[in-house]
Amino acid sequence: MADAVVDTVASVPVAVIGAGPAGLMLAHLLGRAGVDTTVVDTRTRHEIETTQRAGILEADAARDLVDTGVSDRVLREGHEHEGVELRFGGRPHRLDFKQLVGASVWLYPQTDVFTDLADARDRDGGTVRFGIRDTEVLDVTTRAPRVRYTTPDGARHEIRARYVVGADGSRSMCRNLVPEDRRVRVGKEYPFAWFGIMAEAPASAPELVYAHSEHGFALISQRTETVQRMYFQCSPDESAEAWPDDRIWETLQARVAGEDGFRLNEGPVLEKTVLRFRSFVQEPMRWGSMALAGDAAHTVPPTGARGLNLALHDVKVLADVLLRALGPAGEAALDDYQPRALQRIWRAQNFSHWMTQLLHTPPGGSPFDLRRQLGELDNVVGTRAGRSYLAEQYTGWPVASQG
Ligand code: DHB
Repeated sequence: MADAVVDTVASVPVAVIGAGPAGLMLAHLLGRAGVDTTVVDTRTRHEIETTQRAGILEADAARDLVDTGVSDRVLREGHEHEGVELRFGGRPHRLDFKQLVGASVWLYPQTDVFTDLADARDRDGGTVRFGIRDTEVLDVTTRAPRVRYTTPDGARHEIRARYVVGADGSRSMCRNLVPEDRRVRVGKEYPFAWFGIMAEAPASAPELVYAHSEHGFALISQRTETVQRMYFQCSPDESAEAWPDDRIWETLQARVAGEDGFRLNEGPVLEKTVLRFRSFVQEPMRWGSMALAGDAAHTVPPTGARGLNLALHDVKVLADVLLRALGPAGEAALDDYQPRALQRIWRAQNFSHWMTQLLHTPPGGSPFDLRRQLGELDNVVGTRAGRSYLAEQYTGWPVASQG
């Protein structure tokens, strides 16, 4: 394949594999600095836009969308949330982020972040190729890496780049380009998954509700005035088809029930999916002329909504080092990427893992495990240090400065 004939050859400073938020935000940041990119993705724009993903943006990430000129739609259509509710032992406990750490988050779904970024690329004349296939990334250990792909019309294209970025998600093929004997992969599997639904109903609570119960975890999130997003802990081999609406509502209601009589507003379930997850990090995040960003390099369990925010932080650092690497500093500037990105990655790995084990009930857990967990939850909401810890981690950390 590598020597096969191609129909077109183009040169660009940076080629990006993956047109999710990480890939498109990187292209946007580089474009603003006058650096052209070509971004490719096997998925169509429609597929990406209609796949439900996370819903929470850190305030800093929301501000970046506005300040870097992507769009100010988040300010008009997003909702600022100044806290969350933790429910356990049948009681609600509100954590006031504003009061505790002076920060907030934005409810603004990843699909909207993607749409804003894709529209900004269109508006700014950036090149993004959706729906491509047979992607090959070649010569990443040289100063002249290449990307080859086939467009939906059957034409084969080659891009000659100085740098390639693998922002190709949790099933990344780019990360496999780091040779097996030179990469380290660490991670953890969980004995549960999330059952995610979209339901047509009014919101049940003003803010997100993270619920612990002896029956398992549930998360009550939102999308619009009439559509809500909810999740509940299920077995990783659960099948979404086995769950008629009645069974879904019965399960969710049982997990949020309590002495305050709290009930969810029910309505038709529009979509249901079983979401499996794990904790994972691959190092190095840079190999020769290639860097990995976002889920391609690391994934976190969804509890605490760190994944999208972490990916956006990666590309903020990466844009900065790539701009220097393309200037007089040369390739050595890329050495800064991993150390600057990794501190936040491991903070987020820890927080996502911690919040997952805090709220989920492991299959086969003993009565001691359950009581201990309630003790931990009481320590979180009942001590100032506990409340501030969760608030600070949930709302994000400052951007890593140059080392
Ligand atoms: C959503 C997802 C999360 O994982 C989370 O922690 C909060 C909200 C959501 O999809 O709305």
